[in-house]
Amino acid sequence: MSAFSRFTPLVNALPSTIPFVGPEAIERQRGRTIAARIGANESGFGPAPSVIEAISRAAGETWKYNDPENHDLKQALAAHLGTTPANIAIGEGIDGLLGQIVRLVIEPGLPVVTSLGGYPTFNFHVAGHGGRLVTVPYAGDREDLDGLLDAVLREDAPLVYFANPDNPMGSWWDGARVIGFARALPSTTLLILDEAYCETGPQSALPAIAELSDMPNVVRTRTFSKAYGLAGARVGYAVGTPGTVQAFDKIRNHFGMNRIGTAAALAALADQDYLQDVVTRITASRERISAIARKAGLAPLTSATNFVAIDCGRDALFSRVIVDRLIDDHGIFIRMPGVAPLNRCIRISTGPETDMALLEEALPQAVAAASRQ
Ligand SMILES: Cc1ncc(COP(=O)(O)O)c(C=O)c1O
Repeated sequence: MSAFSRFTPLVNALPSTIPFVGPEAIERQRGRTIAARIGANESGFGPAPSVIEAISRAAGETWKYNDPENHDLKQALAAHLGTTPANIAIGEGIDGLLGQIVRLVIEPGLPVVTSLGGYPTFNFHVAGHGGRLVTVPYAGDREDLDGLLDAVLREDAPLVYFANPDNPMGSWWDGARVIGFARALPSTTLLILDEAYCETGPQSALPAIAELSDMPNVVRTRTFSKAYGLAGARVGYAVGTPGTVQAFDKIRNHFGMNRIGTAAALAALADQDYLQDVVTRITASRERISAIARKAGLAPLTSATNFVAIDCGRDALFSRVIVDRLIDDHGIFIRMPGVAPLNRCIRISTGPETDMALLEEALPQAVAAASRQ
C-alpha cells in the first residue's frame, strides 16, 4: 500500500492495526446484529429522560460552536465536587484527556508505568507519543500498588497510570490506600488516577476531592460515559491543581467538545436522582450476572464497576471460545481481558433484564461448547 513518504519515524514504526474492535465492526465482520450489547461497559440503562430532553433542546442549537472554555460545565462540576472551576479540565471523554496528559508529559523514549493488562487505550496513547511502557503484573487480580511504586522509582518514570476501580477486573483499593500511594510517589511523577467507575463503587474506594487537591502531580479523570449513560456523547473531565489542569489549555482541541454532548452532561449532573436509580440497577445487574455465571459453573469476581469479570477457570483459549460462541450463536457481545493471567476471565457489562435473560439462556451453552473444544 502506498503511503505518504514523510510520516515521522515514530508513526512509521507503529503497527497499522486498529487496536479496538468495536461492536459495530463485530456486527459487520460476523454479518449479524447484536442482540445484547454487554461488552463495552456502556450503560444499557441509558441516560435520564431529563437528559434526552436536554439533548433534544440542544439539537436546534448545534449550528453554533460550543463554548471553548466549557464554562457552564466547569461551574456545575465544581459545585458538584466541592472544588473550583480552575481545578477542572473538560475533554472528549477520559480517552481524549489521556491523550492530552501523555502529550504534556511524554517525549519519545521516556518510561511510563501502568499495569499489565490494564486499560489499553492509555497504552495506545503512550505508544503514539513514543513513550516506553513499563508494565507491572496484577497481584491477586488487583492492580499492584507496591509494584507500580517500585517501577516508578526504578525507572524514574514521569508518568504512572492507575484505575480505581479498575478495568478489566472490576477490583478496587480503599481510598486511604490510594492516598498513601499518591503521597509516596516522587513529586516528579504525575499520577493519572482514572476514576471512570467512581459512581458505581463503594464510597470508601474514593478519596475525597480535597484529599489530593494540593498535589500538582495528581490528575483524577472521570467520565459521563458509564453510570450517567452518555458514552456516545464523549464527555469527560480531569481534576487537579489549577496550574496542572490549565496546562491542558496549551495543547487541547479547544472546539473539540460537542455542544449537544455538553448539554447532555449538564443535564445528567443535575439529575442525581436518576444516577442513584441507575447505580441501584447496576448493583442488581452485577448480582444477576454473578448468579448466571455461577449457574454456568463459572466464578464471578466481586466488582465495583458496571461490569463483572468472571473467572472461567481455564486458559485464554477457553475464555475466547465462550466469547466467540456467545456472539456467533446468540448475538451476545461481551469481551475478555487481553493478557494472562487475566484472560482466564470473560468480562460482562451490566444491563437491562432483556439482556440478562438472553445471557442466562446462552452462557451455559457457550460454556458447554468451550468444554467440548
Ligand atoms: C478505566 C477506564 N477509563 C476510561 C474509559 C473511557 O472513558 P471515556 O468514555 O470517558 O473515554 C474506560 C471505558 O471503558 C475505562 O474502562
